[in-house]
Amino acid sequence: MKQVVSISLGSSADDYGFETEFLGQDFMVRRLGSDGDLEKAAKLLLRWDKEAEAIGLGHIKFPNGIGPRYLRKKQDHKLRELGAQIQTPVTTGSALRDVSFEWALRFIEYKFGNYFNNVRCLFFSGMNSYRIAKVMSEFTDNLTFADPVLENGIPKFINSLKDLETYAQTAHEVLQWIPSKTLTNSAVPIKIWNEYTLRKAAQKADMIIVPFYGFHDYLKNFTLEELGGKTIITATAYDERVTFLKERGVDVIIDTTPKILERVVAPNLLEALFLAALGRKKDQLHSDDLLELISSQKMDPRVVYPSGSPKKINRFAFVIHPLSKEFLKKDKAVDRIANFTPPAFLDAVEKVIAYAPPWVYSRITGIKSPTGVETEGWLITVGGTPKQMLAHSPEFTYARLLQAARMAKRMGAQIMGLGAFTKVVGDAGVTVAKKADIPITTGNSYSASGALWAAADAVRRMGLIKVEKGKRIKAKTMVLGATGAIGSVCCRLLAKAFEEVYLVGRNTAKLLALQESILLEDPDVKLGVTTRPDKLLSEMDVIVTATSGAGKKILDITRVKPGCVITDVARPLDLSPEDVAKRPDVLVIESGEIELPGLPEMKSIGLPDKVAYACLAETIVLALEGRFEVFTIGRDIEWEKVREIYKLGLKHGMKLAAISGVNGVFSDEDIAEVKRLALEARQKQKQSN
Ligand SMILES: NC(=O)c1ccc[n+]([C@@H]2O[C@H](COP(=O)([O-])OP(=O)(O)OC[C@H]3O[C@@H](n4cnc5c(N)ncnc54)[C@H](OP(=O)(O)O)[C@@H]3O)[C@@H](O)[C@H]2O)c1
Repeated sequence: MKQVVSISLGSSADDYGFETEFLGQDFMVRRLGSDGDLEKAAKLLLRWDKEAEAIGLGHIKFPNGIGPRYLRKKQDHKLRELGAQIQTPVTTGSALRDVSFEWALRFIEYKFGNYFNNVRCLFFSGMNSYRIAKVMSEFTDNLTFADPVLENGIPKFINSLKDLETYAQTAHEVLQWIPSKTLTNSAVPIKIWNEYTLRKAAQKADMIIVPFYGFHDYLKNFTLEELGGKTIITATAYDERVTFLKERGVDVIIDTTPKILERVVAPNLLEALFLAALGRKKDQLHSDDLLELISSQKMDPRVVYPSGSPKKINRFAFVIHPLSKEFLKKDKAVDRIANFTPPAFLDAVEKVIAYAPPWVYSRITGIKSPTGVETEGWLITVGGTPKQMLAHSPEFTYARLLQAARMAKRMGAQIMGLGAFTKVVGDAGVTVAKKADIPITTGNSYSASGALWAAADAVRRMGLIKVEKGKRIKAKTMVLGATGAIGSVCCRLLAKAFEEVYLVGRNTAKLLALQESILLEDPDVKLGVTTRPDKLLSEMDVIVTATSGAGKKILDITRVKPGCVITDVARPLDLSPEDVAKRPDVLVIESGEIELPGLPEMKSIGLPDKVAYACLAETIVLALEGRFEVFTIGRDIEWEKVREIYKLGLKHGMKLAAISGVNGVFSDEDIAEVKRLALEARQKQKQSN
């Protein structure tokens, strides 16, 4: 039986020995700790020389991945000197270590898809984990390196790979000769401040990269608050380290050292085993050998979920805005002052707030898909009301949205949605999507889907229209705001289901173009176009109103057919509560809001618990699906996208929220009453004709 030994400068309490089979050969594998005693380690080396097939040297502080060459060489040299005295091949495991770091990250990114996309990473030692940092920089700009804080006691983090490289080549070298660390770390207030900033940085991060060497020193002050819900990337996560991280609420541990034996062993031991199995002498393990071994032995990186089940949390941001100046009174200070000042005060606040930079209104947590994926995000608000946004040029709003996108990216969001009027102004998200550094979606595909989903549900519950499977519905529908982003795709979808569809808009040429394109897709539907809907209102069974009239009078409800189902998609609503009250025989619903899966928590957005606007729900669905791409932008929405987001929504547990109107949720009794009044009114109309 061949002997392979790892001589470690670490504690002898962690020693082990076991027999194993590798590449068809039997091995006795041993780890021998020298408790930090170099003399003892040297004696062990001599003792095992010629007796072991290969020897690994463990618990050695590895030279930094970057930095002045002479510094790296100096440390390398000491190790080489030690190994050169003996004849058995000796390795520190650095070849495997280098390959496995990079392989681990690329494998995980490939296997889980977008795993590291815009993730916020904190590196305790960027210089030591340089290879990881370099690969990670391909997926995210959100890199924080604590080297100056931990190495030199300087309360400053490095925030880019380029700055880390500069620090390693220049500042780090100079600082080696200045007793700053001893000075600043012994100055108690600075030390406390450094510990505090380090804890804060950890709290902000999604992933923390912890070098193997010094693992416990780095993490000794960290609790559930810093590590809870985090992903830790480290090397050789022994059981005791896994337990340590589990107790502090860590969600995922990515161990870059592959586990190919029955227990976790250090890279130096693995590499020694490779040398012994391949019968290689010192320095004869090449990257090709490693490639061959990694692929033939299926040396996938180890991903440990301390809680027992896989965890993946994606992140999104969504931009909202006050719907009217009355909304601004939700701020207590504004409300208090507005109560004893003339109305002009609120007008002035509305104007000033429109110029404010975006700010975070609420954090959203607790959204969990039945697939197991979770997402969390931020509601970022811009100050402009619809009135203010329309009063300025679109560029005014674009500038604030791009500011919000930068903020979202910094916070780690992987996609950003545009709420209500932020995508109505200008070109409906096209410019913002082009200029922003993170993918943008307007959410309009799901808004259209939600509106029609709710309309279909309301029609079914009213039971006044006969729906036969596989046949066009014999009823008339109308879309107001037909040439808009949501309106036009609603027209396309209604044209697939109903016999007659009427398109209402203000621009004749746009209406004709829309009619033409729908007829190309569905030549059998009867289409009508008009700029004056009044005379047709009395014939419509279903109306969708999706204008950006911002509260202007859009349709005369008194002319509507009894029993008609009106879906009001617009925000602010196209139909006021006063208008709705005029027709108790008409069912006016507030489009289709979506009930989110899991136990979502966020500040109120004026909807019941767990319920979100469909456009926000689209952003959430895309985050859950890991589809970090520009999904819906512009005014020409493909109906296939509406269908796709609807299906993805179902996959991730989205439900149509209870149908509601201006007075809240409609119960079955409420709907039965509207139907009774509608039938009564129709009877009366029949008699008077
Ligand atoms: N419920 C939700 O979850 C949700 C989600 C997103 C958006 N929304 C709301 O849905 C509405 C439509 O959004 P969108 O993105 O489709 O907007 P859009 O692309 O700008 O379309 C708006 C449409 O409204 C028409 N319009 C504007 N002012 C009008 C007026 N005074 N009278 C009649 N028609 C008028 C426009 O006609 P022209 O072409 O002639 O200008 C256009 O066809 C907005 O109110 C938005 O806030 C709701």
